Amino acid sequence: MNTQVKNNIVTGKPLDRVDGRLKVTGAAHYSAEIPLPNIAYAALIGSTIASGSIKSLDTSVAEKSPGVLAILTHLNAPKLAKLPTFATGGAAAENRLPLSDGTIYHSGQYIGVVIADTFEQATHAANLVQVTYEQKPPVTDLESQRERAVVPKGKIGMTKDADTMRGNIEQGLAQAEVRVEQTYTTPTENHNPMEPHATTVVWEDDKLTVYDATQYTFGVRKSLADGFGIPEENVRVICHFIGGAFGCKGNMWSHVPLAALAARSVRRPVKLVLTRAQMFTGVGHRAETEQKITLGATKDGRLTALAHKGISHTCEEAVGEFVEPFTVATHMLYACPNLQTSQRIVRLNKGQPTFMRAPGESPGTYALESALDELAYAVKLDPIELRLRNHADIDPDASLPWSSKSLKECYRLGAEKFGWAQRNPEPRSMRDGRYLIGMGMATATYPVYRLGATAMARMMQDGSVVVQSGSHEMGTGTATVMAQLAADVLGMPFEQVRFELGDTKMPRAPVSGGSATVASVGTAVEGATKAVRAKVLAMARSDQRSPFYNVVETDMVIQDGKIIHKDDTTKSETYADILKRQNLTQVEASFDAKFDEANKKFSMHSFGAQFAEVRIDPDLGEVRVTRFVGAFGTGRIMNYKTARSQMLGGIVMGIGMALHEDTVTDRQTGRIVNANLGEYHVPVNADIPAIEPYFVEEIDPHVNPMGAKGVGEIGITGVAAAVANAVYHATGKRIRDLPITPDKLL
Ligand code: MOS
Repeated sequence: MNTQVKNNIVTGKPLDRVDGRLKVTGAAHYSAEIPLPNIAYAALIGSTIASGSIKSLDTSVAEKSPGVLAILTHLNAPKLAKLPTFATGGAAAENRLPLSDGTIYHSGQYIGVVIADTFEQATHAANLVQVTYEQKPPVTDLESQRERAVVPKGKIGMTKDADTMRGNIEQGLAQAEVRVEQTYTTPTENHNPMEPHATTVVWEDDKLTVYDATQYTFGVRKSLADGFGIPEENVRVICHFIGGAFGCKGNMWSHVPLAALAARSVRRPVKLVLTRAQMFTGVGHRAETEQKITLGATKDGRLTALAHKGISHTCEEAVGEFVEPFTVATHMLYACPNLQTSQRIVRLNKGQPTFMRAPGESPGTYALESALDELAYAVKLDPIELRLRNHADIDPDASLPWSSKSLKECYRLGAEKFGWAQRNPEPRSMRDGRYLIGMGMATATYPVYRLGATAMARMMQDGSVVVQSGSHEMGTGTATVMAQLAADVLGMPFEQVRFELGDTKMPRAPVSGGSATVASVGTAVEGATKAVRAKVLAMARSDQRSPFYNVVETDMVIQDGKIIHKDDTTKSETYADILKRQNLTQVEASFDAKFDEANKKFSMHSFGAQFAEVRIDPDLGEVRVTRFVGAFGTGRIMNYKTARSQMLGGIVMGIGMALHEDTVTDRQTGRIVNANLGEYHVPVNADIPAIEPYFVEEIDPHVNPMGAKGVGEIGITGVAAAVANAVYHATGKRIRDLPITPDKLL
């Protein structure tokens, strides 16, 4: 494995996406665009109540409607076996089986599916199904249930107990000379990828092919196989392109097995696409949180105590449990000897919450980093200086050294690029004409997750290479970055390498979540390409006809697609020469990347610093973010263009969280009143200023062979706090309740 590659390294280069042209020309087929003959269309019927049960359900009129092929409800739907969730190797989001009974847990819960010849016929007939309900008053607000909060069954963020203590919080508070104690709240938020969830299903006897918009093809396969009682080999899940996901496609939601049931019942391929309104009720959301932060510090700003406690909502027990892990980052972000965390859940009729871009860290850093800003004012310290005084030189929770950490450099670089020195610390001191100007900052952080992954590399006789892993292209640039990595390992031009993904026929890949794809799948790709390279070079060394016969591997250098002898450049041949001479059409090698997480010697996290400038109309309370700078230490950057795009996207989403996004539920009916893109406000171009993301040079020898930490989620963390802190600086008003809408400032 010691072959030297002297090549024009493409990893890191801001190359264009390999699939960019396919996407902009419409040639890329998403899960709702699979051209299949004789396809039928499914439309879901959602419950109009949020709690209670179905009293009567009459499909007779709907059945006679033109084009209708079948209607499935809890009265006639075939029963599925248990659908495995993450805990049991699958991807199902909910424990409850779809259409299993007439009990209603939340508004929009699917109570039936209509299959018809056309989409319009299915949608029309769905409206003709007559339903009466036994209605119970829905419980949809967190505050009224505070007293009924319970300890979650599962771990917080898969690793932490619901109640934790480091040191002694009471002693820490007793030592404190200054104390900040505040409660911060964040609303329910919904993922709104451009591409709605979509599933196209084909049955051939007992073989099932599913084209599904998913971040976890293998999880969907396992859940469907078990649910339908067929072997996993009989299920193929394909997803070549995803039009955004952000966590809502990390699980399998119940429309997927319903589409499969629908296709089986009409013996035709079936396509099921969620409406935008259904995107708000059927595929999870970020749970609402209420978080209390208590900080104790010395007069010079050193933390003596840090408590982070609060509640978030989940659905009723029969459906499942999801805990928004908002305390997780608090464990490791600052050096504080005395730490207490506590999380409770309340059960609401709002359906199942789920992962949404940096679950936990997004709302958690809003609360913690707002409180830090409050402490900075209390001890009259610059917010960056306060954070430097509490910098964690090692992971205070795991008591492990960091694999790498560039947070101090992120503060320095971010402050320089932003012009932090120009900030007058006095609130309400900076103006531009009649507008109030504010500058705020916050720390960003996200863990490095690594999940077992496999990959296969196949070299063709012409020397070109195809690398495969059943991973996902969510728009993050996976296909591009993996090809860059493979090209560099093989020392061949980027154009001669193709990376294929999104199919359970390929080597097994994990869920594309937790910003873990580069670290996980990348390690497998690196391993597989090294293995195929070694195989081919070994063929040359054992072949008398090769100029490399009996040459040791370390004397073989690969340069620009050619293998040359280290000391004698007249000795050279190409991969293609070797394969041709052996009469091989192809050579393959696979690699299984495993990570021993139990035996970690280092704590692995990314860090960053976020800086926001706001301009506020003092009469109208309108907040505009005018500039945003983020500086990040995320290990090696695989492609500057796609990595930068991830940061831009994360910051945009963070600005949405700070100022716009709020899923509003009507307390009487339990219905979401803004389940559309007109009234659920995601930032649009007019809301987004110049965003400048920077990456600090960071070498991490421990995370994986590439030294890459992953860049998907850190971008959103700290953004809402940076904006909220800027709003305070501009106005002198601390808004502890997201989103920061004009009414809260007046
Ligand atoms: Mo991400 S919320 O782990 O898809």
